[in-house]
Amino acid sequence: MTNDATERVRQDWESQASSWYAERNSLLAASRPIHEWLVQHLEPTDGERVLEIAAGPGDTGFLAAPRLGKGRLVSTDLAPSMVDAARKRGTELGIDNVDYRVLDAQAMDVGDASFDGVICRWGFMLMPDPSAALAECKRVLVAGGRLVFAVFTGPDENPFASIPARILIESGHMQRPASGWNPGILALSDRTRLQSLLDDVGFTSTHVEGVDMTWTFASTKEYWDFLIDLTALGPLVRSLSSSDRDAVRTAIDARLADFTRDDRIALPARCWCGVAIR
Ligand SMILES: C[S@@+](CC[C@H](N)C(=O)[O-])C[C@H]1O[C@@H](n2cnc3c(N)ncnc32)[C@H](O)[C@@H]1O
Repeated sequence: MTNDATERVRQDWESQASSWYAERNSLLAASRPIHEWLVQHLEPTDGERVLEIAAGPGDTGFLAAPRLGKGRLVSTDLAPSMVDAARKRGTELGIDNVDYRVLDAQAMDVGDASFDGVICRWGFMLMPDPSAALAECKRVLVAGGRLVFAVFTGPDENPFASIPARILIESGHMQRPASGWNPGILALSDRTRLQSLLDDVGFTSTHVEGVDMTWTFASTKEYWDFLIDLTALGPLVRSLSSSDRDAVRTAIDARLADFTRDDRIALPARCWCGVAIR
């Protein structure tokens, strides 16, 4: 079951790798507060080994890499096309202390205690088994090693995801999340649930705080392209008939009016940013 679910996740992100690469600069600009928090709490130093999981085009790890000096970054993702995108991005940035690998974070083919730090930005909430991934992060860290991660908080703080999700549910294209674990953009929004996943893994200490960012768009079309090409809802929206897609888009456009000022759409977003020490 988990394998089938993971395979679906892999296929979804394979289909978005070229867009994540094409939009790398705007993604990086919008998410600056998040990656700055992560790199600051990772505290990378010369000679350390850092693993990035669910790295996508790899940019959070690439911000840490120069501070590793003679150390090494291993940039990994479940989707081979994302790993290719990261390799292209790393070459473009001239990062030479990095290796690239396809890796399922829930079952890592990596030795115990082989890294000083692990980074995971916007990954755990999308995985069918985030507990397994967190346990794997702890296993591959040395004693005292740091896991830094970001997941999105709740629907009210993240309209970029909750507006389309509510419309898709109301129009019958997406099921209302059932009880239990349903991977998705906002699946780890509950602070108590997140903390209990961390506690179950048994890290020595954890610290989690909310960090704000803003997605800005020049037009509703630009937001629509973002939704389809870059978010986890994209594959579902793309699979709708053109008339259903048009109806969803009209409903979304109406809701975006609340966030439009001076011809720009500014959608606030908030993440739980965390550091967990092995
Ligand atoms: C929202 S993107 C985030 C990419 C990148 N971390 C960033 O913040 O720019 C989510 C990424 O998680 C990856 N992913 C999902 N499940 C995974 C798993 N089980 N193991 C490794 N990567 C996974 C996807 O392939 C995708 O590249």
